[in-house]
Amino acid sequence: MARINPSILAADFVNLERDIASISTADLVHVDVMDNHFVPNLTFGPQMVGRIQDVSSIPLDVHLMIDDPDQWAPGYAELGAFSVTFHAEAARDAVALARRLREIGARAGIALKPGTRVEPYLELLPEFDQVLVMTVEPGFGGQSFMASTMPKLELLRAARGDRDVWLQVDGGIDEETIGVAAQAGADTFVAGSAVFRGDNPAARIELLRGLAEAHSHEDPSN
Ligand code: DX5
Ligand code: ZN
Repeated sequence: MARINPSILAADFVNLERDIASISTADLVHVDVMDNHFVPNLTFGPQMVGRIQDVSSIPLDVHLMIDDPDQWAPGYAELGAFSVTFHAEAARDAVALARRLREIGARAGIALKPGTRVEPYLELLPEFDQVLVMTVEPGFGGQSFMASTMPKLELLRAARGDRDVWLQVDGGIDEETIGVAAQAGADTFVAGSAVFRGDNPAARIELLRGLAEAHSHEDPSN
């Protein structure tokens, strides 16, 4: 199955409630939290994410591009986010943090920048519910997909086996690239500009979902 998580980084920040309502057929809302330290861009923090949680009819997939997630990530789980993903490069103790997030009741995700190797995490997969393979350098929407990250997905798919670990891609996912990522093993797709460009996000979501499913690595008869 292919999950489509639109990134509201590409939405209109002064009309967020309207734009969140326009993606209600998506699987989750992808919420990019940036602190202007871990990445050179700034979005919003827990107060805003709490309000997004209040108005959204679909669950939240929070992507933390922040320093010191060990301190800050549990707060996002506590306010009810379905999934909280922190960066491997920023965490002091990724396993302890993931356990804490699960204890609070969120799915625990770990994200890898394009230059971060996946091998050290393969044997830790039981500790995580999601691995986010960044397909651009984190920080901004509208960048080009980096196909050089695809071998990480192939390794993750092989290591995951039958476990319920979602393999997410984020950055430059559109109708040209989503099939490549699905073929490599991704099952959860973040798309910002590809969903919010134009005036019919619901149609864009359906188009992307159809393309991902058509290229899915899973045998549809299973
Ligand atoms: C980038 C963010 C992405 C971003 C994707 O650092 O993590 O979620 O919104 O935007 P597009 O889909 O436009 O590349
Ligand atoms: Zn993101």
